[in-house]
Amino acid sequence: MVQYLSIQEAMNKGSGKVSVRGWIHRERGSNKFKFVVLRDSSSNIQCIFEKGNFEKEWNEIDRLQVEASLEITGQIKKDERAPNGYEIQVEVYHLVGVSENYPITKDQSVEFLADNRHLWLRSQKMTAILKIRSTVFNAIHEYFRGQGFYEYHSPIFQAVQCEGGAELFSVDYFGKKDVFLGQTWQLYAEPAIFALEKIYTISPSFRAEKSKTSRHLTEYWHAEMELAWADFKQIQDHAEGLIKQVVKTVLDKHKLELEILQRDCKKLEPTVKKAFVRMTYDEALKILEQKCAMKVQWGKDLRTIEEEKLTKLYDVPVIVTHYPKVVKAFYMTEDPKNPKTVQGCDLLAPEGYGEIVGGSHREHDLEKIKKRLIAQGEDPSQYEFYLDTRRYGSVPHGGFGLGVERLIAWICGLETVKDAIPFPRTMERYKP
Ligand code: 4AD
Ligand code: MG
Repeated sequence: MVQYLSIQEAMNKGSGKVSVRGWIHRERGSNKFKFVVLRDSSSNIQCIFEKGNFEKEWNEIDRLQVEASLEITGQIKKDERAPNGYEIQVEVYHLVGVSENYPITKDQSVEFLADNRHLWLRSQKMTAILKIRSTVFNAIHEYFRGQGFYEYHSPIFQAVQCEGGAELFSVDYFGKKDVFLGQTWQLYAEPAIFALEKIYTISPSFRAEKSKTSRHLTEYWHAEMELAWADFKQIQDHAEGLIKQVVKTVLDKHKLELEILQRDCKKLEPTVKKAFVRMTYDEALKILEQKCAMKVQWGKDLRTIEEEKLTKLYDVPVIVTHYPKVVKAFYMTEDPKNPKTVQGCDLLAPEGYGEIVGGSHREHDLEKIKKRLIAQGEDPSQYEFYLDTRRYGSVPHGGFGLGVERLIAWICGLETVKDAIPFPRTMERYKP
């Protein structure tokens, strides 16, 4: 049996006979030679077919096109002129899958590439992003497990809202009308802290966002944590610790991919080395007015443009705390010093990327929770299972949610979160 090496392994070997397999990334021919750049998931390498050695097969070789799959055996050697510094002189080959008139050529529109997303995944850009994405997921697991958290799972079919009813996707659940796709694990996670104390998940969340922005998906991956016995500061500390570890891991492992994406790593380094900036909402309004000439009326949420201006003042993420109660969810703890504000925070990524984490300490007062649910037009009787968390041995606790695509988009320096996920789902697109 032939032992196949990855292209990277073959180049590491550097000389002698090797067998590799992959897809044709580029090809060109003359009447004596065919040059093929073969790619696999590890790298790519130039392979040379000499007509003199393949008289019988030349017709097939001559017609090889981009994205055909090949198995190749030949001699590998260093060659300064080859794109990756190595080339293979082909001795034996096998055409595994033909490819004709591959639709993706240079300079195609964003729409065309989105329609052909299933093929565009093979591009250098998407491959680099998908590798980083895989590392980001792993680093999130490593952070939480390293801190002693249990992985825990909430249902996706849910019967309550948590982050605002307007953004719910309802599901036809055997004719029942009050079933939705989860926006967050939170209301089903809080009950579990009484068993496991420290829990986390990475799971899809769904938001019927009517906004067509570079930051909104209708289906995104949500990394969430919930921690028993926690105060508000510990929640922020974990958000900072998590982001630091993820960014550090990507910087350590993915110099090459970040280079392919033309990402300036210098812009990410301060996040690993320096403490994040923390400020209250009130301080943020002051800074916006003084340094950015932007006046925000107290009680209004920060808009994208304000988050952008604010974060551009710093080279590390900014954690904004103590937002007005009116702009935040019903479950956040009222701040004892100013009950008009809550112990909730948003972590804003630098370079204008804005909110990537939302978190809070959780209100323990049953009556306050009920009042706020009613104020938001909800019927507290639907939340009985959740309210039980405050009836039987309630403890101070809190947690946060991280939008994984938003984190990846920032780390990779992408223009939109749509490129941070293989098949983006938005208001306008649910195919292919
Ligand atoms: O701020 P959010 O709405 O917070 C919650 O869902 C809390 N229940 C989390 C918790 O405390 N367990 O959402 C959390 C994060 C946001 O900061 C953002 O990064 C991401 O989820 N997010 C989205 N990402 C992509 N597309 C969307 N439409 C998103 N909506 C929220
Ligand atoms: Mg939020």
